[in-house]
Amino acid sequence: EVHGLVRRSSRFNRQRLKKIHSDYYDHADNFTMHYGDMTDSSSLASLTKAIKPDEIYNLAAQSHVGVSFEVPEYTAQCDGVGVLRLLETIRAEVPQCRMYQASTSELFGNSTQVPQNEATPFMPRSPYAAAKLYAYWIGRNYREAYNLFVCNGILFNHESPRRAETFVTRKITHQLCKIKFGLAEVLHLGNLEARRDWGFAPDYVESMWMMLQQDEAADYVIATGETHSVREFLEETARLLDYKIRWSGVGIEEIGVDEGTGKTLVAIDPRHYRPTEVDQLIGDASKAERELGWRRRVSFKELVRIMVDAELENLRRSPEKAREI
Ligand code: GDD
Repeated sequence: EVHGLVRRSSRFNRQRLKKIHSDYYDHADNFTMHYGDMTDSSSLASLTKAIKPDEIYNLAAQSHVGVSFEVPEYTAQCDGVGVLRLLETIRAEVPQCRMYQASTSELFGNSTQVPQNEATPFMPRSPYAAAKLYAYWIGRNYREAYNLFVCNGILFNHESPRRAETFVTRKITHQLCKIKFGLAEVLHLGNLEARRDWGFAPDYVESMWMMLQQDEAADYVIATGETHSVREFLEETARLLDYKIRWSGVGIEEIGVDEGTGKTLVAIDPRHYRPTEVDQLIGDASKAERELGWRRRVSFKELVRIMVDAELENLRRSPEKAREI
């Protein structure tokens, strides 16, 4: 039996749940959506009271690192204090409930230790990461102080075709495929040199469930152990679409031109730079491999291919819809 919480928005915002919902339509009793919000204690308390969950997966967040510089207070409320609200609700209503907290590799921020594991000191570099730091520690504190079963999953970037278009991997695959179909002209990006440890989201979601099936609650890093730059992700996407990119210029003047047509495919827009950047992330998931038996299945190149194939399929099916985004 699965219950999901959605933030109220004036526009329909459940597109990505549509397939799950229709697949399970025949079992509608097993899957229910409710309005709820991490900034609203009353909704968390009344739903917890009514549902009496065995497990809670807290993936709720203002999850865009760049946007957190623009809405820092909301980010702190939702991603930081929101977790405290949830923990207090669990303590009062369902103390036996197990909770997964979506911690993040952003906690490592400026760390010089490579690769990063559960013992690496945190050095957050954004309002998002600072809020998540509070959430991490308050989760650990409630585990120790009140014996609640709380696990922090310190997940490195995890991507899939279901990623929203404002995150860099999906932005690249989506926009370059649209250009291929003649539906867009240029892809505008920020820092091409940032390096991330990118894995495939379904592999990572499995680890969340595994954590909650252990005898004891603990914190785990989930990562591939490989790091690639935004530029590499872009070049791999371009290669799959038969583009060969020639780079010229430096900094915000840099452009990427398609050698075949001489057209500019990529340009830099400084609005996508962040006031403080996390330059490189690379994780060491050996604890999760050892204790949970977790393994990643999808490589970097396979991940890019999966995302490009899904994009092309969507465009072939409904180019009109793709044009609107
Ligand atoms: N979003 C975005 N848009 N990022 C860009 C762009 C752009 O146009 N150009 C370059 N980048 C760079 C960012 O500066 C960053 O260094 C890197 O691409 C990745 O950015 P995102 O895809 O936005 O992800 P993130 O690493 O900041 O954060 C994601 O992963 C974390 C770890 O799992 C988010 O999902 C976080 O919520 C999550 O905690």
